[in-house]
Amino acid sequence: MNAEHITALVTGANRGLGRRFAEELLARGAKVYAAARRPESIDLPGVVPLQLDITDPESVRLAAQQAGDVNLVVNNAGVSTRATLVDGPIDDIRLEMETHYFGTLNVVRAFAPVIERNGGGAMLNVLSVLSWLHPQTSGAYSAAKAAGWALTDAVREELAPRGIQVTALHVGYMDTDMVSYIPADKKIDPGFVAGLALDGVFAGQTEVLADDLSRAVKAQLSAPAQA
Ligand SMILES: NC(=O)c1ccc[n+]([C@@H]2O[C@H](COP(=O)([O-])OP(=O)(O)OC[C@H]3O[C@@H](n4cnc5c(N)ncnc54)[C@H](OP(=O)(O)O)[C@@H]3O)[C@@H](O)[C@H]2O)c1
Repeated sequence: MNAEHITALVTGANRGLGRRFAEELLARGAKVYAAARRPESIDLPGVVPLQLDITDPESVRLAAQQAGDVNLVVNNAGVSTRATLVDGPIDDIRLEMETHYFGTLNVVRAFAPVIERNGGGAMLNVLSVLSWLHPQTSGAYSAAKAAGWALTDAVREELAPRGIQVTALHVGYMDTDMVSYIPADKKIDPGFVAGLALDGVFAGQTEVLADDLSRAVKAQLSAPAQA
């Protein structure tokens, strides 16, 4: 893919990593639909604001209708309730799955035909190191990101014959609202991550590991089981 011929849609583009994706895509010459639950919260000059709640099928259907020229979707929108699985609020646990798994799936299903009609393209799914690492303190989030990882792998195979590349981004802490409680020296710049992930998409990579933690945890997946 060539960035100059890209029409991209970024979910959750009003703040955090999504905003940085939108900025980076604009800088590379792409047309950008900046999608957000509240489009009035989009303050990036040069983008096309679009209403999109990924958990609302009607909102997703309308977005796919309005952004019919898209050939790259960045599935970035996400939540972190920090709910634990045994004692945490079940509504929070469901919200994580509704957002990271069913919400992303809503967007994948609505936009696959759009990208296909436009001659093929790509989807970039924002996952996490917590797709693989499952600490008790973030059980709901980790389970939802693990589901997102499985989704990503399966739809990659489904969409390849339709001319759509699917890339996974795994990353640890980034400096956004989601982890405002984490000390600054433990977080990396989301702008750097957005650039690296887009480099990966345009180079045809199926997986981008954006930090040392993600690389170390991925390497451990093939380690022998512990006693
Ligand atoms: N920050 C990290 O350390 C970190 C690490 C690994 C992965 N990630 C992942 O990176 C992605 C971006 O997160 P972030 O760090 O930028 O967090 P953030 O600053 O909290 O931003 C989250 C974004 O997702 C949007 N969103 C949430 N639910 C939505 C829905 N149902 N429909 C549409 N948009 C929705 C939010 O919109 P509103 O403004 O309307 O709430 C906001 O734009 C997420 O997938 C997250 O899981 C983050």
